[in-house]
Amino acid sequence: ASFPLIAPSILAADFARLGEEVQAVAQAGADWIHLDVMDGHFVPNISFGPAVVQALRKHTSIPFDVHLMIAPVDPYLEAFAQAGADQILIHIEAGPHTHRSLQLIRQLGAKPGIVLCPATPADAIAEVMDLVDVILVMTVNPGFGGQKFLSSQLPKIARLRDMITHSGRDIRLAVDGGIDAKTAPLAIQAGADVLIAGSAVYGKPDYAAAIAALRPA
Ligand code: DX5
Ligand code: ZN
Repeated sequence: ASFPLIAPSILAADFARLGEEVQAVAQAGADWIHLDVMDGHFVPNISFGPAVVQALRKHTSIPFDVHLMIAPVDPYLEAFAQAGADQILIHIEAGPHTHRSLQLIRQLGAKPGIVLCPATPADAIAEVMDLVDVILVMTVNPGFGGQKFLSSQLPKIARLRDMITHSGRDIRLAVDGGIDAKTAPLAIQAGADVLIAGSAVYGKPDYAAAIAALRPA
């Protein structure tokens, strides 16, 4: 696949038809499916758990990018790995033992990723860069789809791009929240190579056109 990768978030899909909704974006050119798991504790909303990830796994072979907005994370990592998550992303803010959790994700056979809330500086993840395959910058406060892109996060994306370059490792740099055809070029310019989009894909009638509109001309 060519960069940027596009990862539609099923948070904005029709929850009564999730299997079809996942297949539809895979056929429309999506690179990953982004699955937002919320616990009503780490974030003020509840979405779905490993049973839904497992049920969707039979419907497509596209990589599942599972974004855990839960705390604690450790008791649930095995369930998400067994459900078919290819990548498991946890928040640096979710607890004091991120280093151990990321190692556990790798041991379970999934790719580990780390997520930063808008209030968290880039340097907060400096000591776990060697453990992750994905870094995700939240460009809204996590919990809900359809919020406004925070352009205050652009310098942080650029700083993380520098940190990745210096690491010498192959790490994807994703952005999540308020990504649409207007904000996508800003995130790409700052250094992002994965665009996560909920409403800008599932809120549109033509998924292929919506995904194409996020890629640079
Ligand atoms: C927010 C989630 C996002 C959300 C994005 O907590 O992590 O993945 O689905 O939705 P949009 O693209 O509508 O801002
Ligand atoms: Zn997300």
